[in-house]
Amino acid sequence: MLREIVQVGDPVLRKVCEPVTRYDASLAALLDDMKETLRAAEGAGLAAPQVGVPVRAVVVDVEEGYFELINPVFVWQKGEQVGPEGCLSVRGKAGTVRRPDKVKVVFSDRRGDRYSLVARGFFARAVCHELDHLDGILYTDKAENIRDAEDE
Ligand code: CO
Repeated sequence: MLREIVQVGDPVLRKVCEPVTRYDASLAALLDDMKETLRAAEGAGLAAPQVGVPVRAVVVDVEEGYFELINPVFVWQKGEQVGPEGCLSVRGKAGTVRRPDKVKVVFSDRRGDRYSLVARGFFARAVCHELDHLDGILYTDKAENIRDAEDE
């Protein structure tokens, strides 16, 4: 089911999200809906607070694959990259953001099993952007040159 993507100004985007504690049908439904909503919006990632649910869950859809990260935590961050970013909750804008070039994250899947992954380049950027959402941080807080995005 498609969910409405909350836009900047809604206080849910500024919350420090709560950890997921129940790996149940409602979590599965949330993740399924986030995937569908992300694909429909043609984005690279979506965090649960962006659909109004302030829990620590994100989905990322990049060249390397589709990932669901529950209660994700950075293990390390390395290097640096500077590049353009946008956000489905800040429509029509883009900005230049400095991010680590490579990150390692531990996370749970929707069953509660714990995994880790290493992401680099755009994948790392997407992971960093989505994890920021879980702490109420928007890319616009970090970006230089916030500008009107080009029409697609
Ligand atoms: Co975003």
